[in-house]
Amino acid sequence: MPPILEVDHLVKKYGDFEAVKGISFTVDEGEIFGLLGPNGAGKTQTISMLTGVIEPTSGTAKIGGYDIHTDMDEVKKINGLVPQDLALYPTLSARSNLNFFGRIYGLGGKELKERVADVLNVVALTERADQAVEKYSGGMKRRVNIAAGLVHQPRLLFLDEPTVGVDPQSRNQIFESVQQLNRERDMSIIYTSHYMEEVELLCNRVAIIDEGEIIALDTIKNLIAMLGGGVIQIGLTQVDETTLAELTALQGVQQASLAPQPTTLPAEDDQEALEPERKHDMVKIECEDSQQALVSLISYLNENDLNISSMEILEPNLESVFLHLTGKKLRE
Ligand SMILES: Nc1ncnc2c1ncn2[C@@H]1O[C@H](COP(=O)(O)OP(=O)(O)OP(=O)(O)O)[C@@H](O)[C@H]1O
Ligand SMILES: [Mg+2]
Repeated sequence: MPPILEVDHLVKKYGDFEAVKGISFTVDEGEIFGLLGPNGAGKTQTISMLTGVIEPTSGTAKIGGYDIHTDMDEVKKINGLVPQDLALYPTLSARSNLNFFGRIYGLGGKELKERVADVLNVVALTERADQAVEKYSGGMKRRVNIAAGLVHQPRLLFLDEPTVGVDPQSRNQIFESVQQLNRERDMSIIYTSHYMEEVELLCNRVAIIDEGEIIALDTIKNLIAMLGGGVIQIGLTQVDETTLAELTALQGVQQASLAPQPTTLPAEDDQEALEPERKHDMVKIECEDSQQALVSLISYLNENDLNISSMEILEPNLESVFLHLTGKKLRE
């Protein structure tokens, strides 16, 4: 079966700033595909180009075989978009809101009524459907938002951070709806988030996106396997080549290297981080066996009287994959 989505070197520029720097990827029919990245990575910009909200600067994409430049009308029938920002009429009920969205897609009469009832059921809001949306909790509003993206029965659903500001109960409900839509209706889903736990739970393949670029794309299993026997990250004062070579030679260690420094500093710590006397280097120790490496590392540090300012043993998960690739945490 041909992929439901083929993205080909998509670029979005604002003046000299490149919000999306020529990304390419494909999503297979029936996949739940994750787009994982920190704030400002370019997730929403990418989705907006694929759904016709904004024009790409260059590059293109095909959805269900239709080109986004020439066949947007067809693309819009296939796509369902659940935007990051809520777009609901607060004084109207969930049902009236959904009727409104359905009519935009040309639905009416009995068909519209049935579709609306169905999507209310999918997001588990049937019982509260006739109450004004302004009386809903944040999580319930979010679920109406999701339902709105479903009324026209899309084959490919874009969910842009659907759990931000949502209570745990609604969050679980959203996960269930996503899995159910995928399993029972063969819906392909693009799920963006900066919560790696969500992506780990829901997705088979993930593109990790940072500063407008895809820096890794694979199954979660393969991405995690990239870390091998685990990673230990330590802060040391003034590390030189000799120290790195000695650390690399330790039992259980595969490679010690200086970790990339974060390119963006947390705003509140700007002053402190820029002070010249703070000379802690972050050393990334990739291990063959992290337990063995830890034992030899501690005796090495003792023997050489080295001061450590921090130590972190990275669990093999998507968060540590991201840290490994960028030197940054997903959530600062
Ligand atoms: N209209 C615009 N003009 C200029 N820059 C923009 C515009 N819209 C977005 N950007 C920039 O593009 C970059 C990517 O933004 P985008 O909204 O895609 O990030 P994101 O990954 O969705 O982040 P978040 O998790 O915060 O939603 C950001 O640096 C943002 O400031
Ligand atoms: Mg966004």
